[in-house]
Amino acid sequence: MSALLIGDEAPDFEVDTTEGPLRFHDAIEGSWAVLFSHPKDFTPVCTTELGMTAKLKDKFEARGVKVFGVSVDPIEDHRAWVGDIEETQGVALNFPLIADPARTVATAYGMIHPNANDTLTVRSLFVIGPDKKIKLKIEYPASTGRNFDEVIRVIDSLQLTANHKVATPANWVSGEDVIIVPAVSDEEAKEKFPEGWKTLKPYLRVVPQPK
Ligand code: BEZ
Repeated sequence: MSALLIGDEAPDFEVDTTEGPLRFHDAIEGSWAVLFSHPKDFTPVCTTELGMTAKLKDKFEARGVKVFGVSVDPIEDHRAWVGDIEETQGVALNFPLIADPARTVATAYGMIHPNANDTLTVRSLFVIGPDKKIKLKIEYPASTGRNFDEVIRVIDSLQLTANHKVATPANWVSGEDVIIVPAVSDEEAKEKFPEGWKTLKPYLRVVPQPK
């Protein structure tokens, strides 16, 4: 199977989770979603990542994003591990952790990279739009914990593009100026940005971040 790419439909699946069984497309209906894998329960980096994601719940919710973790561990392991996350990270797990012992999700999303490890997932993360299309994918090795502030930053950028037809420059953070996408003509831009914009080049038009 070829790798899932940005713009592809996010595969559907039925699974058990720490919050009960779900069908993915039903669970994310109409929402933005993050689906991210961790290699293994009861491991140190994974414990910190799940705690960090739980701490960011308000930020994900403010952006209308539903979050799902997944690994190939069985549901009994997930249930036993969540106490360790709360004890060591100071926050209770507050999003569904998918049990994928049959590797249904891991296979559909290409989360197992056999030359890294042929049984465990790497740290894959997908942002999925309300149209169920993949908007972003990032992949990290098992040894590197992800920067979840970066995940929030990218979601802000993706949502600005979806809602306002603007793109975000290198190292942009929310609140800084953005770029009018090349597909928007100057005529259309006049309607969308009546306060005006700065033209550095015809293809590089800078505007304050829309509200
Ligand atoms: C960890 O979460 O620390 C980890 C998991 C699998 C392999 C290596 C590290």
